[in-house]
Formats: sequence, structure tokens, C-alpha cells
Amino acid sequence: MRHALRRAGAGIPAFVLCLLVAATAPGQAQGPWHPKPQPTGPWMNTSLSPDQRADLVMKQMTLDEKIALLHGVGMPTDEPVTPENAASNRGVGYVIGVPRLGIPGIDMSDAAYGVRSSGVNGRYSTALPANVAAAASWDVHAAYEYGALIGRELRAQGFNMSLGGGVDLTRDPRNGRTFEYLGEDPVLAGTLVAQLIQGTQSENVIGDIKHYALNDQESGRNAVNIHIGERAARESDLLAFEIGVTEGHPAAVMCSYNRVNGDFACENQWLLNDVLKKDWKFPGFVLSDWGGTHSTEKASAAGLDNEEPGHFFFGDKYKEAVQAGRISTGELDDHVHRILRSMFAAGVIDHPRQRSVVDPFAGFRTARQIEEGGIVLLKNEHGALPLDAAKLHTIAVIGSHSDVGMISGGGSAQVDPIGGNAIMPPGKGATRWQEEIWFPTSPLKAIEARAPHATVKYDPGTDPASAAALAKSADVAIVFAYEWESEGMDLPNLTLPHNQDDLISAVAQANPHTIVVLETGSPVTMPWVKQPAAILEAWYGGSDGADALGNVLFGSVNPSGKLPNTFPLSVEDLPHPNLVKPPPASEHFSGPMSPEKWAKGLPPFDVTYDEGVKVGYKWYDAEHKPVLFPFGYGLSYTTYRYSALKVTPGDTVQVSFTVANTGKRSGEEIAEVYAALPAAAQEPPKRLVGFTKVALAAGESKTVTVNVNRKYLSIFNVEKNGWQLLPGEYTLMVGGSSDKLPLKETVHLN
Ligand code: BGC
Repeated sequence: MRHALRRAGAGIPAFVLCLLVAATAPGQAQGPWHPKPQPTGPWMNTSLSPDQRADLVMKQMTLDEKIALLHGVGMPTDEPVTPENAASNRGVGYVIGVPRLGIPGIDMSDAAYGVRSSGVNGRYSTALPANVAAAASWDVHAAYEYGALIGRELRAQGFNMSLGGGVDLTRDPRNGRTFEYLGEDPVLAGTLVAQLIQGTQSENVIGDIKHYALNDQESGRNAVNIHIGERAARESDLLAFEIGVTEGHPAAVMCSYNRVNGDFACENQWLLNDVLKKDWKFPGFVLSDWGGTHSTEKASAAGLDNEEPGHFFFGDKYKEAVQAGRISTGELDDHVHRILRSMFAAGVIDHPRQRSVVDPFAGFRTARQIEEGGIVLLKNEHGALPLDAAKLHTIAVIGSHSDVGMISGGGSAQVDPIGGNAIMPPGKGATRWQEEIWFPTSPLKAIEARAPHATVKYDPGTDPASAAALAKSADVAIVFAYEWESEGMDLPNLTLPHNQDDLISAVAQANPHTIVVLETGSPVTMPWVKQPAAILEAWYGGSDGADALGNVLFGSVNPSGKLPNTFPLSVEDLPHPNLVKPPPASEHFSGPMSPEKWAKGLPPFDVTYDEGVKVGYKWYDAEHKPVLFPFGYGLSYTTYRYSALKVTPGDTVQVSFTVANTGKRSGEEIAEVYAALPAAAQEPPKRLVGFTKVALAAGESKTVTVNVNRKYLSIFNVEKNGWQLLPGEYTLMVGGSSDKLPLKETVHLN
């Protein structure tokens, strides 16, 4: 249980996970991993629907076989080979399938920004830029490619299910998983995650969306009880999931660790049955986050279909409950049906996985392009960027191990770097839970390659005075600052760690031509913001981050990313300046452990989201709080002009306008459409209702139309349990940033 030990700090003690997986799995033992032969049986008639095919399989299944589909058999990654997991690909979860009927096992791997930690097996995958970087590209095609690359590499490694698709909103930017998510706006995040899921599933891999729902902080995530009103939840966090589920059609939804309004998410009737399965008509299956199941009958009745990673509640206890009549066969069959129909729908039965050699370098191009589209230019005075290599004699490169690598996000998202952690001695390749992993993609080398005639000197940035001295002697100083974050922890504040504020300040004071490059997953405060000439947010740049950055620094790529999260001025401006931390009793289990104690869960502590729907920019707008950099903001090396807005109400509200590139370089402009609802709606001043990315040559203009879904203009009416567009005056606003919307038109909608 090395894996479980690694994450004990994240709230699940190792011995509890042992308890949860220890009992012998029902079902049959299998031989070592090998591609399964094509199954045969009437269900292999591909002209039948996934539902019909699932029913045909179920007719032949025994009770034990049905129960075996409802749970995993542990975490093969770090466990010895057992009869139950022997046929797995040694990922983080495995469901044995129905071997007798040729139905393959479900082989799961974490895959947030690439296939997780397979280096231990001698296999590597492409690390895409962090999900938040993909969100910053606001690019639906890139999101699809992101998912498709993950799907391809999962299959090639021998997996047939992805554990990715994180879409919890950035309600608190200190959340340690902010880098794994897609920002603070439900329409942006939901639209992008739907594309990501479609991309993954196009490779015949079961796609997943997680962590459902409101898992917006890591502190005390196994104990926290989130309180939120239904309308606020439906219009914020749940809307991101609603769009992801209804447009992305994931085969699976992972319920989260936390409680929501009293009940654990994985036994929450409202979340699972009422909203997900009934209102959104989700036909797939719900699996618990690892160790997130807390009961048998209650969870099953609420809509949990599959317990992961083990079978403390959904193994023998489940069978017993069925035999005793406490769980009906109808309920059991519904869970089994959902799992089987999803396997057919995703294509994992018709196209069995075939392990092959992954060429992670083949993915570098996609990783680089997505990073190029996601880098955000936050400041650029007097055309400091792009750099002109011909005019530079000396370049100072400072800080953040920028001589050898770029930082990545940690936790279960962690992808193993090829060749190991860039800051470790060669040969120390294995990554460990909650260790900062640096990808061997060297900004220094990328800069040297683009300025072959310049002298490029490096300073580690550990001593501001020495860094400033080097900066002073150079034509340009490029200072890198980073903040690492990970699952299982939250950030203490929004300040750059390791004294980097002082470093930046000292360097910028020494050289007016200072460029700051940020490698962060979350927004940071910038007390030094006025000092440097230019600032780039590069996020966690992935396998080929340095080349992407080099291309932006030297102008072969024109930056076009825009912020998917607001950068506030101060932690004091957040809806909850003090992150509610778990009381010690709710942080970790202590004292003698029993399954019953685990079932009960850690003592809950309450967090009330009284800001409700006001997440991110909606909060700052409504509260009239100025920010450092607003949501949707990002500069370019060219300039754009917006004109000729025309709003046409209809089944969708058509918003047409013209964008012109008024500068001297070609570029891509993300055009954003917001709406202010009628006063009677009592909503924040504006909400994002659509966006598009427009490629424009220098001097070119294009007229584009964004079709706005009427749901995005609606409120959620709790009494009617549905979206409702209130008749009234709606102001549609268009522009290149949430704080700069030059076009406005008010229309009457009903
Ligand atoms: C994480 C999930 C992950 C799972 C399996 C959990 O701790 O919250 O995101 O998929 O572990 O590794």
C-alpha cells in the first residue's frame, strides 16, 4: 500500500484503504495481463444499442458476477499481484469485468494532464500543460485534442478508463487542485471539459468527469460539510457539471469526498439520483472517489454504482443486502446495467485495448501548442516583448530552476517526467507523493537557442542581491517565479513562496527591462506589479513548456491566452479570507480504527458558501472590489477593435459582431460575450454566456456569431426544479476581457 501511504496526508490513512480493499474479491481469478480475445455472444451485435447489449449480457450473469462489477479490487499500482488484479494494467483501479462472458476488466488510470505515474513501470506519457493552462486558451479544439491525446496514450499503455475531467470551480484560488481544474466560470469550464471528455472517449476509452460536487477545497476534504443553497449550486458549480455531462457524455462521473448539505457526495440522493441521473438524464455510472464510499444501502439507494478502489461496502456486504432483500434486484440491476452500457457506449468492448509502445515525444507538439495558446501576457510596457534576438548581447535568466526545468502540478494528477525529476541527480527518476516534480524542459536552453549570438547567464535566484547584480549587467533580465501546488493540500495564501516577491523586486529595480515569467496553478498577488516591463503567466507548462515559452518570448507565437481565474489584489478580498480549516479531529483519523468508524466518516465541519453564485469575477463585480487582473484578461502583441454588435433573439440568442486586428502581427483573439440579467433576477452584474476564438491576420477583420444558449441567460427556479428565462431586458456585452466590453446592446427576451 505504498500509494495509500503516500496519500495518508491527504486524509485517507493507509490502513483504512487496506481495510477497504483487503477482503477477498468475489469473482474469478485471471492470468497475467494480456489483450483479451474479442468477446462473443449476442451482445456483440453492434446494430443494437448499448442499453440493449447491456441487457443481453445481464441475462447471463450470476449474482456474484453482478456484484463484482460494483467495485474495484484495490490499487494495483502499488500492490502485489493478486488473483484479482493480475489481469490489470497496474493502474490505480481495476474492476474485473465478466471474464466468463468475455467482458473485459475496467482498467483505470489517473489522467488529469497525462497518464499518471507510469514511470515506475518503465512507461512514460506526455505531460500536457496543466488543465488551467488549457482553460486559459479558451479553445474548444485544443480541449478536444487535450482529451484525445490522453485517450490515445491511455489505450497504448493498456488502460481503458481515464480518471480525469476535473471541473470543480475555483471558488477559492487557494485550493491545491486549482491547476487541475478549468477556472472559475461554469460556462467556460463546462464547455471545455465536455470537449476534453469527447476527445478522450473518441479513442475508445471510458471518460470521467470529477469531483462531483463542490470539492472546492482540499483542507479536510474527507470531512468538510459544504452548505449551499440549491439555486446557487445549480447556477455555479453544478452548471459546470451539467454542461460537461450533457455535452460531453462522459461514461462515468466520480463523486467527491466531501459532504454536501449534510450527506457525503457519494451517498447524496439529491446530487446523484435527483440532479445527475434524473434531471440531467445521465445514463452512465457513478464511481466513488478513492475511499469516498461510506455505506452500502444508503449509497446504493442514493445512486452510487461503483465503489473504488476496494469493496468494503459494495462487495460481500452488498451481496448480503441483496440476499436479505434490503437492496432490491431492480436497484442492483440498474447499477450493473449502467456500468455495462457505458462500456459498450465508450467502445471498450468492441475495441479491446491493445498495449503498444507509447512514444511520449510524439505528444510534445500537441503539448507545446496547447501551452502556446494558454500562456497569458499580463503586462507589456513599451513593447518589451517580444524580444528581438538581433538586438540582445546579454540575457540574464534567473530563478525557479529555469536552467533545467519547469514545475508541474502534484497529487494523483502527477505525470512522471521522462528521465526523472529535472532537479534530482540523474537516475533518480521515481516521483513521490507531495514532492515537487520539475519537468526537464529548460527555459535557459530554449532562450539560448533563440538568441544564438547573445551571452546567456543563469542565476538561481536564491539570493536577490546576486540575482540583481547579474540583471544589472544584462540587456534583459528574465526572472522566473513559481508556486507548486498539489492535491491533498491548500495554499496558505496567494503570496509567491520562497521570498520570490523580493527577488522579482530586486531584479526589476536593477534592470528596467525585466520580464517576469510565472509558473503557477493559482492566481498570485504581485506587490511588485508596477516594476517589471512585462509579465507572462505560463502556468505549469508540461513536457515542452520551455519551447512554448521561448516561442512567445521571441515572438514566433503571439500570446492569446486569457485568464480563466481572477487575480485578486489581496487574500482579504476573497469571499472567505480565512480558509476554513478542519478542526484537528476532522483532519485525520486517530485512535483505534474500525470500518464502522470509517463508514461514519470523520467528524464533519461546516463551510458555508454564503457567497452563493458569486464565484470569481461575479464576486468582485458584485462587491465592487478592484482586482489585480480580471477574469478573461490577456494582452497580445497586436491590438483588436470590436464593432457592429447585433443581437437576434431566437431559440438561441445570436450575438454577431466584428473583430478587427488593428496591429502589425497576426494573432488570435478570444472574444467574450457576457449578459446582465433583468433586475428581477437578482443576479451578479454580469455572467459569461459565450465565447469564441478568432484568428486574424494583421489588418484583417471578421464578423463572427456566438449562439448563446438560453439556459445561460436563465435562473434556476428551485420551486419549478428547472431553468427559467425571466421575461425582461437583457444587456449583452462583448469584448476582450470581463472588464473591457466595448459593445453593448439591450434586448427584450421572453
Ligand atoms: C483523487 C482522485 C483520483 C483518485 C485515484 C483521489 O485521491 O481525489 O482525483 O482520481 O484518488 O487516484
